[in-house]
Amino acid sequence: IALAAKTRTITSMANEEEYSGNVKQQLAKLFDASLKAAFPTGPDVEPLVAACTSKFGDYQCNNAMGIFSKIRGQNTEYKKPASVGEAIVKNLPPSEMIESCSVAGPGFVNVVLSKIWIAKNIQKMLIGGIETWAPRLQVKKAVVDFSSPNIAKEMHVGHLRSTIIGDSLARMLEFSNVEVLRRNHVGDWGTQFGMLIEYLFETFPNIEDVNETAIGDLQAFYKASKQRFDSDPAFKERAQKAVVSLQGGEPKYRQAWMQICEISRKEFDKVYKRLKIQIEEKGESFYNPFIPGIIEKLSEKGLVEESQGARVIFIEGVNIPLIVVKSDGGYNYASTDLTALWYRLNEEKAEWIIYVTDVGQQQHFDMFFSAAKRAGWLPADGSAYPKVNHVGFGLVLGEDGKRFRTRSSEVVRLVDLLDEAKSRSKAQLIERGKAEEWTDDELEQTAEAVGYGAVKYADLKNNRLTNYTFNFDQMLNDKGNTAVYLLYAHARICSIIRKSKKDIEELKKTESLVLDHADERVLALHLLQFSEVVEEACSNLLPNVLCEYLYNLSENFTKFYSNCQVVGSAEEISRLLLCEATARVMRKCFHLLGIEPVYKI
Ligand code: ARG
Repeated sequence: IALAAKTRTITSMANEEEYSGNVKQQLAKLFDASLKAAFPTGPDVEPLVAACTSKFGDYQCNNAMGIFSKIRGQNTEYKKPASVGEAIVKNLPPSEMIESCSVAGPGFVNVVLSKIWIAKNIQKMLIGGIETWAPRLQVKKAVVDFSSPNIAKEMHVGHLRSTIIGDSLARMLEFSNVEVLRRNHVGDWGTQFGMLIEYLFETFPNIEDVNETAIGDLQAFYKASKQRFDSDPAFKERAQKAVVSLQGGEPKYRQAWMQICEISRKEFDKVYKRLKIQIEEKGESFYNPFIPGIIEKLSEKGLVEESQGARVIFIEGVNIPLIVVKSDGGYNYASTDLTALWYRLNEEKAEWIIYVTDVGQQQHFDMFFSAAKRAGWLPADGSAYPKVNHVGFGLVLGEDGKRFRTRSSEVVRLVDLLDEAKSRSKAQLIERGKAEEWTDDELEQTAEAVGYGAVKYADLKNNRLTNYTFNFDQMLNDKGNTAVYLLYAHARICSIIRKSKKDIEELKKTESLVLDHADERVLALHLLQFSEVVEEACSNLLPNVLCEYLYNLSENFTKFYSNCQVVGSAEEISRLLLCEATARVMRKCFHLLGIEPVYKI
């Protein structure tokens, strides 16, 4: 093990030296040099480089107009923005990256990349692995707080969205070499436990009898205890005392609380297991012992004020204050979140903390983030590190356009939902005759990959802030922008390679990738942009950006494949390498979206 660890650091160091940035960053470096050379006395500007899809070029540098407006009048050499553009082109250091440059319109500098350079880079990735294209971020350690259902309450589709989006963000960060603390901030503390525990004692005088099967449905149990709480004042009083006993750490109460949590946890784990989600529980209760100290710290800074019996923090621009101690002296969601934030910053040393919940909680996050800034825990500049982000998402809707429910208008059990996705995809595979062709295991595994993949992709492909309609037929369609279509596309590429009977491992050493056909070049350039797309998806916390990239990749491949013969052509080796590179990038996209690839169909 020690040896393995050693070689790993050595190779990663080697990569570090070699890493020169993604296409955009490399071009930015060249333009930076050019700007400094062309305008040695200023203005001092950052190079503005962006990919573009015009017929004039692959990338654009957009600095000319800005510079022109700054030097206008003082420098007679430049009569119009286009002449600034020309100066930028003239001063570009020579580079094997660039095939040609031209100035268009009011000074846009268009760059055509060299196809030899593009080919070389793809070849390098084939040899060094897709990890060589991993983005480099500014942070070393991040927390992704996601999923986070509540004990004894239902884990609903909102939690499913949080689980899917959060997992994908964590994967993208991990790929970018960030250490990610995947946190399940479960709601396992609060006054509702008094009522639950008291009801538990009442229903099971003999505590040994308590287990999953005895309680059955924990949500029904919650409802029943709530009803008891609301209708019987004596019960209510006992429940309130039970909270005190629980918080005081009385063993009997603590044990009952643990039992209730354990039953919920088992339910949640069924979902995580199906979706292969890695997450570590650090629920609200974990932070409870630290709350008084944190409130104290905030009070010392003069942030905490009295208001109608409660202790609150006022936030500029918001009418209602953030309550941190309730009027009965108890703590709440905000006190826990402030404390958890403090813990993550100071104990866990996280530099970026990301919270994934529905947009409905936006105000809560905005408010406690502001409080943390006032306390000086976070820099006032929201883009500086350490940084916090609330990743909000919209609702999941049913066919009727209303909140997603079952036919009998109950909340959908997530396990049932996932099981249905799987069984529907299995039925499709059987219809395609796969039951005869494949082993039972293969059928099962593919049905799972496709079924769960479909649910995840349908969620991730939309901008997360929009509501989306849950529709099995749509998400399991093998045409259009769906996981099914994409997974099949990948499987087809794998089969092209298999059928060629060529050894890719040998071919990739031959440096024979050429990009003479226009469709080869388009596909190859798209592949090369993988790194900057992941970086964008990661920095802006938008998995849909990666989905869009993946879908376009598949479209570009289809175009290439229908216009360029692979097997049996003169360019066979080169084109097989392009197939292999496409398959690899697709697989990495699937991986980052939490989708398992399939290799045959
Ligand atoms: N338990 C909360 C809910 O179900 C989500 C918690 C999100 N995380 C956080 N740190 N507040 O809505």
